Amino acid sequence: MTSSDNGFAGASILLIEDDPQAAGVLEPILISKGYSVTVARDGVEGLEKVRTNAPDLLLCDIDMPRLDGIEVCRNVKNDPTTRLIPVIMLTGFGDLENKIQALQAGADEFLNKPYNSLELFTRINSLLRMRYLNAQLDNAEDVLFSLARAIEAKDVYTQGHVERVSNFAVRLGAFMGLSEEEQDSLRKGGILHDIGKIGVPDHILNKAGPLTTEERMIIKLHPEQGARICEKLKSIRGAVPIIRHHHERMDGTGYPDRLTGDDIPLLARILTVVDIYDALTTTRSYRKCLPHEMAMELLWDETSKGWWDKDVVAQFTKMVSNSLSSTAVPAPS
Ligand SMILES: [Fe+2]
Repeated sequence: MTSSDNGFAGASILLIEDDPQAAGVLEPILISKGYSVTVARDGVEGLEKVRTNAPDLLLCDIDMPRLDGIEVCRNVKNDPTTRLIPVIMLTGFGDLENKIQALQAGADEFLNKPYNSLELFTRINSLLRMRYLNAQLDNAEDVLFSLARAIEAKDVYTQGHVERVSNFAVRLGAFMGLSEEEQDSLRKGGILHDIGKIGVPDHILNKAGPLTTEERMIIKLHPEQGARICEKLKSIRGAVPIIRHHHERMDGTGYPDRLTGDDIPLLARILTVVDIYDALTTTRSYRKCLPHEMAMELLWDETSKGWWDKDVVAQFTKMVSNSLSSTAVPAPS
């Protein structure tokens, strides 16, 4: 979909409507405005077409056989791959109960039957504009995520690290009862936490053996550089404190700001713990990987030295031992 002076002509609209007469009225009106229209005859067919066609916008009737419009909307909005598709519910005039349910399911707009074509196109275009802007934002995020993975690929010892840290951090956040929004920041922070390593030369990143003081200083710049790279993009703002503070220690001996205790943002304390665990359980240029039990022992040793948040480490220990006892062992590689 592209934006132009003519609005969003060419945008793909999926019309989910079981009444052939109603669909027969709406479809040609939409086509006459330049939209590319697909029709589904009920909710089940509609959801299939959402997944296969990835439309730019949904127009969805409410009362339908097999799966009603509210459920279609809920499914679309609960799936991370489709949740940004705008959904307009087609409702009867004064249909308050349905409108409340549709709002709870995440619907973006309503249109009352019979349709006023000016209102129809105004709403469609305003939602398509929002969709277009969201897509632009997604692209900007994707660029940063790709950059983070490209930096990881430069370091032969950290393959897959950011994905594992991101997944672990989200699991731990959920285990600790954090909100969806905080979990999303953990997901993004997990991928992006080392993005500032773009400024670190390859020979330092891949150096086998101890680093010189100067090399260590260069590496220690990466949290600030990473935060600077990411702070401009509003949609990842929640991850910026994670990126900046993922090398702080509870006793103030970390970097870059030497924060102590609760002054270190909770999400950064969470990411630090899973980051350390993953580093311990994978082979690095300076040492071989440790088995899970030894890694946990070392993590607790460092916690008692005052480096890591003991509550977070306790929650992590509980989560991992739950996983081990249910055989879903975390997968260090
Ligand atoms: Fe780091």
